[in-house]
Amino acid sequence: MNVNGVPYRTIRVADDGWSVEIIDQTALPHEFRLVRLTAVDDTAKAIQTMQVRGAPLIGATAAYGLALAMRADPSERAFDRAAERLLATRPTAINLRWAVERMRAVLRRTPATDRPETAYREAALIAEDDVATCRRIGEHGLALIRDAASRANGKPVQVLTHCNAGWLATVDYGTALSPLYQAHDAGIPIQVWVDETRPRNQGSALTAWELAAHGVPHTIVADSAGGHLMQRGAVDLCITGTDRTTATGDVCNKIGTYLKALAAFDNGVPFYVAVPHSSIDWSVREGGDIPIEERDASEVTHMTGRTAEGAMVSVEIAAPGSPAANFAFDVTPARLVTGLITDRGVCPATEAGLRLLYPEAAGAA
Ligand code: MRU
Repeated sequence: MNVNGVPYRTIRVADDGWSVEIIDQTALPHEFRLVRLTAVDDTAKAIQTMQVRGAPLIGATAAYGLALAMRADPSERAFDRAAERLLATRPTAINLRWAVERMRAVLRRTPATDRPETAYREAALIAEDDVATCRRIGEHGLALIRDAASRANGKPVQVLTHCNAGWLATVDYGTALSPLYQAHDAGIPIQVWVDETRPRNQGSALTAWELAAHGVPHTIVADSAGGHLMQRGAVDLCITGTDRTTATGDVCNKIGTYLKALAAFDNGVPFYVAVPHSSIDWSVREGGDIPIEERDASEVTHMTGRTAEGAMVSVEIAAPGSPAANFAFDVTPARLVTGLITDRGVCPATEAGLRLLYPEAAGAA
């Protein structure tokens, strides 16, 4: 996507040909800052501190982290150490494990001397795979927006989204936002309700920033506003991303997604989830079996922002000393999901629906 007219991806190999350049998402929306990562430990820290975040981008970053590790030491032991370090960063997004295991499978059959080059090549393939996947999700989701537009009597199609599942969460295009960009580019009038997404505000900070950069009409709302908007008929459909979708169609995504799905169900609003193939965990059937990341309580008790003078400050917003808990994700049961927008088409959130689109997964755990 373009930033001030310049095309960017969220991750790439820098001009030196080996270090890895990312957009520091902790500085957005106030500053667009690129950061160079030169060792696997840098990539692990970037994932942990959420300089990079969003399930698909976490996977691509881990892949490049393994390439950096192989450049430093192409031994199997070094690979295992690096993989372990990366896998410990964030437990919920399955794309992380998907990317690490894909790298492992390729490097295992590669002689040590060739591993650095092979690792960079495979990481690039993973990044390209994500770009193509997200583009296809956009194409399939566009049909749903067109459908909604045909019923909107010329009024903008009103879409509610949660967290950031845009291009910043992927290598390019995004998942949930990809159909919205395609609809906007096709001249279909849309209006996006952007959930602020406490506690880290990926909606108000990141989704709003990237929609604004692309000129897509949008409005930030408090997380608790979605139910009210749906009751008033102000939402035609919801589209969210996912960090992990089970083989039976249960959807794990940013905390608060479940409440939006409940409100959508109660109000007859279609609730779609954009799912790249790399976010499907065929080895898990029940959403309740997905590990839910718990992050530092300070993300709930404190907020960081920019003062009128331009300084970045963190302020305490909770009663001092009160304990806080910070669950980062929740599970929306498949029965509340109208459909999954995958890179191979839209399917019901069921095991049969997913397996019809991904027959090769039949043997997967
Ligand atoms: O904690 P985050 O910011 O990594 O969470 C991101 C989300 O929950 C996204 O909706 C999900 O990763 C899908 S991104 C295409």
